[in-house]
Amino acid sequence: MFKVHAVSHSRLPELLRAMPKAELHIHIEGSLEPELIFALAQRNGVQLPYADVAALRSAYAFSNLQSFLDLYYAGASVLLHEQDFYDMAWAYFEKAANDHVVRAELFFDPQTHTARGVPMGAVIQGLHRACCDAQTQLGISADLILCFLRHLSEDEALATLEEAMPWREHFIGVGLDSSEVGHPPEKFTRVFARARELGLHVVAHAGEEGPPAYIWSALDVLKVERIDHGVQAIHDAALMKRLAEEQMPLTVCPLSNLKLCVFKSLADHNLGQMLDAGLRVTINSDDPAYFGGYLNENFLQTFAALHLNAQQAYKLAANSIEASFANEAQKYQWMHQLKQCFQGFAESD
Ligand code: ADE
Ligand code: ZN
Repeated sequence: MFKVHAVSHSRLPELLRAMPKAELHIHIEGSLEPELIFALAQRNGVQLPYADVAALRSAYAFSNLQSFLDLYYAGASVLLHEQDFYDMAWAYFEKAANDHVVRAELFFDPQTHTARGVPMGAVIQGLHRACCDAQTQLGISADLILCFLRHLSEDEALATLEEAMPWREHFIGVGLDSSEVGHPPEKFTRVFARARELGLHVVAHAGEEGPPAYIWSALDVLKVERIDHGVQAIHDAALMKRLAEEQMPLTVCPLSNLKLCVFKSLADHNLGQMLDAGLRVTINSDDPAYFGGYLNENFLQTFAALHLNAQQAYKLAANSIEASFANEAQKYQWMHQLKQCFQGFAESD
């Protein structure tokens, strides 16, 4: 067990920024900044129902998940060509590099684009090319996870998976996102079974707004390897026990939860309680362009609001690396870098 030395309160933000970390819950369409939305709208001749960047940004006041999703899908409507997907992902990777992200697993929503007539190949190839450049130019290891929109039917999800098969080597897993309540995981039993048969990793949003029952069925029916969000587990003691025993990773997104009114304030967030209960929690940004911050901002604000310490910082960063779908040799290397980073802070403290 690696010994984490105490770090002074004043140096904790510096440590949070500097530590190598993995981001496991980022919707790449949720990284589209208003400036890029307007630039792409102009490039592609798409009309937006907002006068300018400031007007669009001022619309970012959400009351729940659905009120956000309506804007998020409207923002994505400017993405038409392969280069647009590349530019969007590249802008994210530049920010991620700055946040010392060493590994990023990007969610993308192909149905949002194919429904508008954008070819599947343009979506996947543009994102894939950005992932390759992230490795060679920024040293970030990156992979793609194809998400099904849960407000649509399972047949549509199955058709989407088949449509993506020519690019099977360009994504490592499937996920489940969009409107949660009323669309339980079991609605997608067959498509997740098919994905597992194909050797894909499987994850699902569950327990963001939806009940603990959705987390149970994501585990038991979809057989997911990680739960995205999962914060509603706190209301079910047996589920908490199981998540801790199985060390099931949870990709928690504090600023998202705040902006979508899952918690009244960050000080009310249950991330600290879940860590204390021994759950394998990670911190992520979800849709950073909409929720007021990229990965380091999530760490900084959460640590300030919940008074977390260096030990918990180490645990969260280690969890993110260990829960990633990178190979074991890479994980070992990043864990070594993480330990070195913490040792550096202990010695200079
Ligand atoms: N799609 C993008 N962000 C999402 C979120 N936080 N929950 C569900 N679907 C999403
Ligand atoms: Zn999400």
